[in-house]
Amino acid sequence: MFKKVAVFGTGSMGSGIIQTAAMNGLKVVAIDAQPASIERGKKIIEKSLARFEKKGKLAEAVNEITDRIEFTTDIQKASDAEFVFEAVFEDIGVKSELYKKINDIVPKTAVFASNTSSLSMTELAKASGRSENFIGMHFFNPVPMMKLVEIIPALQTASSTVETAKEMAKILGKTAVVCKDTPGFIVNRILVPYMLEAARVYDAQIATPEQIDTAMKLGAGVPMGPLELMDFTGVDIAYFVGNILYDETKDKKFLPPNIMAKMIQAGWLGRKTGKGFYDYSNKD
Ligand code: 3HC
Repeated sequence: MFKKVAVFGTGSMGSGIIQTAAMNGLKVVAIDAQPASIERGKKIIEKSLARFEKKGKLAEAVNEITDRIEFTTDIQKASDAEFVFEAVFEDIGVKSELYKKINDIVPKTAVFASNTSSLSMTELAKASGRSENFIGMHFFNPVPMMKLVEIIPALQTASSTVETAKEMAKILGKTAVVCKDTPGFIVNRILVPYMLEAARVYDAQIATPEQIDTAMKLGAGVPMGPLELMDFTGVDIAYFVGNILYDETKDKKFLPPNIMAKMIQAGWLGRKTGKGFYDYSNKD
């Protein structure tokens, strides 16, 4: 049914959605205002596709997949998109501004799906200018590997849009779980307090990062320990999302410990800056 989608934002989540869509046969126009972000996104995709290729897990050649992707800074290129994913900066102002710009460009029938992890879908739907055709589709990092997408209808979302989002999830090879528009949805509501608690255990010098992560991997069967995972997704992201969830709920389990604020001040954001709870300076 779908042939062409647009993805706004080429950061780690956006590039993961772009890659997943292209790997599943869709043409993708990948749009970002910053050329440097486009270059970073291209590199993330190249690296990930190379890993899939090495494992013999690609149904076609890498270039056949990448040929379906058009990277651009020009929002007009979304004029024939049948479905829009938005994965731009996690800020209601930035997202609203983008929706205002693209609403007249993208066909009226196209669904807007936001990958927000922490903002209210209902507020975003209002800002979208097409609230009945607006929905949340929250992916997980690394998107090409993680099997889940949370589907979050806003108060205004039409039931047909929920069905369209489910259909899109299926095309992308994801299992969809529908969830109410509540702070953190399902995964982050449970995962964020867990990661923050691990940072508190570290801060209280109960154990080293290695001990905490080994304990959780071997004792609870998670693929990555909580501190490894925070380094992977970004210490700043966990801090930011935790604070948003705390502001919305006033529930202290979402309040990040001070050690994370200090790490952010030091630039220790995890893998992306070469240091977080662990040191990556000697790793690729
Ligand atoms: N692209 C392609 N292939 C990849 C990849 C990528 N980005 N990352 C890993 N792989 C492949 C590897 O090549 C390997 O393939 P193989 O099984 O055929 O050998 C396989 O995946 C396993 O990789 P590794 O051995 O390097 O490492 P793991 O076994 O630890 O798997 C992982 C990697 C899938 C990322 C796994 O560690 C995992 O599931 N980690 C947890 C991730 C998680 O919890 N994500 C959610 C974060 S929260 C979030 O995103 C919400 C948002 O709002 C912030």
